[in-house]
Amino acid sequence: MSDFDHIAAQLPDPFRLLWREKVSSTNDELRALAEKGMAEGLVLVAEEQVAGRGRRGAEWFSPKGESLAFSVLLRPTEPKGFWSRLSLVAGLAVAEALEKYVPLAEIKWPNDVLIGGKKIAGILVEAGKDYVIVGIGINVNTEDFPPGLAATSLAIERGGEVAREEVLLEVVKRLGRYAPEIGSGFLDLLTGIRERCHLTGRHVALTCADRRREGLVRGIGSAGELLLDSDGKTEAIVQADEVRLITNTGC
Ligand code: BTN
Repeated sequence: MSDFDHIAAQLPDPFRLLWREKVSSTNDELRALAEKGMAEGLVLVAEEQVAGRGRRGAEWFSPKGESLAFSVLLRPTEPKGFWSRLSLVAGLAVAEALEKYVPLAEIKWPNDVLIGGKKIAGILVEAGKDYVIVGIGINVNTEDFPPGLAATSLAIERGGEVAREEVLLEVVKRLGRYAPEIGSGFLDLLTGIRERCHLTGRHVALTCADRRREGLVRGIGSAGELLLDSDGKTEAIVQADEVRLITNTGC
């Protein structure tokens, strides 16, 4: 019996819950199931991850029983070129779910969710040949973070604990509605993404394919790319390894 059992029946079709006490990484476990042909919609949630991963192989801090660590298996029918949009789409699903508890959650392109400039959730989207794993880590009830980590949690922001299973349900409901819209429906989703874009109007330094760029973020383009003004022109950045704020002016 886990805390998550009672929401299992409330998940919309085609989502089904698979709870695990302890895993290496929910993304890795779910990938193994996806490779075996598991149908779309499996949501693997773990009480404890011993090798949770962030982007670029970074360790993901998710203390047992306090944070929410889960992965969702999708098998998009849209062309592969659209799949990277799932990072922003998942960001929107998470931000809106968190806004059931706090006034505003922002999306830091391409895959973080922030509250008051501090990270509250991270998203790791990994694609296989015919599937996508959307891995989501949310700081729900964590109160203590390692020194140097600019992070926050729902419990800190609200001043009290929040039921992790309720947060999971809110995220999955939205992901279920938004994930099928990465093709022709993406423009509609962009409104919510742009409203919550943490980087718009800010100066950033970003690294992409070992090239460093600096500039002012204009916003998010119609395909989900970051629009960066630098050296007198606007560039559309499709992918970046790291995005750092240089100043906090604007926005
Ligand atoms: C990041 O911010 O760099 C992404 C963090 C993603 C963490 C989640 S927790 C659930 C899933 N399993 C993992 O190993 N990583 C993702």
